Amino acid sequence: MKVFGIISDERAFRSKSPVMHNYVFKKTAFEAVYVPFCVQEVHIEKAINGIKALQIHGVNVTVPYKQSVMPYLDSLSDEVLAIGAVNTILSKDNKLYGYNTDASGLMDVFQRDHIEIKNCVALVFGTGGASRAVLYALFKSGAKAVYIAGRNIQKTKKLADEMSAHALLINDVNFRDIKPDIIINATSVSSPDESNELADFIDNMPVYNVSQVIDINYGRQVNIWKNMASRMNSQFMDGRSMLASQAARSYYIWTGNQVDVDLYMARLLEN
Ligand code: ATR
Repeated sequence: MKVFGIISDERAFRSKSPVMHNYVFKKTAFEAVYVPFCVQEVHIEKAINGIKALQIHGVNVTVPYKQSVMPYLDSLSDEVLAIGAVNTILSKDNKLYGYNTDASGLMDVFQRDHIEIKNCVALVFGTGGASRAVLYALFKSGAKAVYIAGRNIQKTKKLADEMSAHALLINDVNFRDIKPDIIINATSVSSPDESNELADFIDNMPVYNVSQVIDINYGRQVNIWKNMASRMNSQFMDGRSMLASQAARSYYIWTGNQVDVDLYMARLLEN
């Protein structure tokens, strides 16, 4: 029996990862259990060291610790170094290995759903950890130009410089100037309850012909990005595909076995 888990703050208890991974472990007859670990920020170092002490086989790490766990790992993958965030840890031979499956998971989504990124112009909202993985996936998939829209211009410019993208203030975004083929929301906001201001801005965006809108979040009753996509006649996808894909990639890192992403998707669609 192997033990896995997700490290976060109290959001660990709301994460879909435990139900999703436990379902797939059962379906693939992999003898393991996956549990939520709610960790206070001051205890992050102890929690990461505890992975070895407790002989936990692997964990996912999510907001808000994707960056703060990095100093306590023995080895970081090239993607982690490029993106600056870890979402998967493997414990092996008394060493902790840090990976990022968010970006590769999103690249899998592009391929699986035939979303053509090569030579496209992309507009990404948000400047946090998720946004970094999205930018990496877009460039790796051959995007021609990437614009990042944030609410803090210094933070946005810093990220844009680091990732060779163009920075914009959200309030200055004009689709007709940028001409995006794809828009990705990587902010934490997807409903008016979360930010009336951003919701108003998106709701009032003049219609422009965008092929694809992706929201990395899911589960909102009213989704401002979905409504925008429908006004603009665009394809829309929420964050469940990305969540399922990053989970399948983590499963591979932990077990050495490929698993059908549809198994993860099936469990997510049950909710
Ligand atoms: P994650 O690691 O999931 O990206 P995060 O680092 O907390 O999480 O980032 C959330 C992003 O959503 C940030 O870019 C945040 O903007 P700030 O960096 O300026 O805080 C963005 N965000 C949150 N609320 C927002 C709002 N009301 N309008 C615009 N952006 C918002």
